Amino acid sequence: MQDTQLEAMFSGVIGQEYDTLKLICPLAAKMSQLVGASVAQYAQVKAEQTLNVLELGGGTGITTLAILLASENLKVLSVDSEPTMQNQAKQNLQTWVTQGRLHFAAEDALAVLKRTASASVDIIASAYTVHNFLDSYRAQVIQEIFRVLKPGGQFINGDRYGLDDISAHTRTIQHEVSGYFKALIAVDKLDVLEHWIVHLFSDESENHVMRETFSLQQLQQTGFKQVNLTHRCEVNALVVAIK
Ligand SMILES: C[S@@+](CC[C@H](N)C(=O)[O-])C[C@H]1O[C@@H](n2cnc3c(N)ncnc32)[C@H](O)[C@@H]1O
Repeated sequence: MQDTQLEAMFSGVIGQEYDTLKLICPLAAKMSQLVGASVAQYAQVKAEQTLNVLELGGGTGITTLAILLASENLKVLSVDSEPTMQNQAKQNLQTWVTQGRLHFAAEDALAVLKRTASASVDIIASAYTVHNFLDSYRAQVIQEIFRVLKPGGQFINGDRYGLDDISAHTRTIQHEVSGYFKALIAVDKLDVLEHWIVHLFSDESENHVMRETFSLQQLQQTGFKQVNLTHRCEVNALVVAIK
């Protein structure tokens, strides 16, 4: 699918939610498409099989849609602990629910992972969810992701990966904050601005931030054979880890 077709599809299906995200953080909107492109690459290699995809933190369905569009040959279980977010995804993505290709679990990600059989999932995909986890909780999630993936399966995560150079990281965050003010004051969305600034304090706290080198080493130490970080743009990057 062409970029412009994909854009139209996202705006059409996800609606205003997607347009607001593009305004605040164009990279976040693009990241779901990068996750989708990685899923598509894997699905091409496994063309003859129906892939089991587990999505962590589906939110309103932006990343879920990118995953579903990646291939006809996959089924998605989209997990989100926040029913208000997931209900929007349910509404937006009815077509795929009807086709039997999309199921939802309104549950905690770790709880779902823990009751999933070992070596039963082809892809665990996520965008902008794992950085929200407390570091100790994230460590357990990563262990479980490794356990439930099939050998050769992939963990595909588009997310906020902090720069190792802390001064450069701070400058990047300062630039990001300026961008929120410019974009949201221009459209008079001060409530959204407040929400994003408050949330950023959590993202940037010591027990949340996913520093690049630490995070990649954590995946390698868990047992992932190949771990790659690509498409870095400011604090955003795509990580693909192969079991
Ligand atoms: C920022 S949204 C990302 C949504 C979508 N992937 C995107 O990129 O637009 C993060 C989502 O993760 C969900 N979430 C956060 N912690 C979670 C947890 N422990 N278990 C399940 N879902 C969680 C939140 O409810 C939220 O909907």
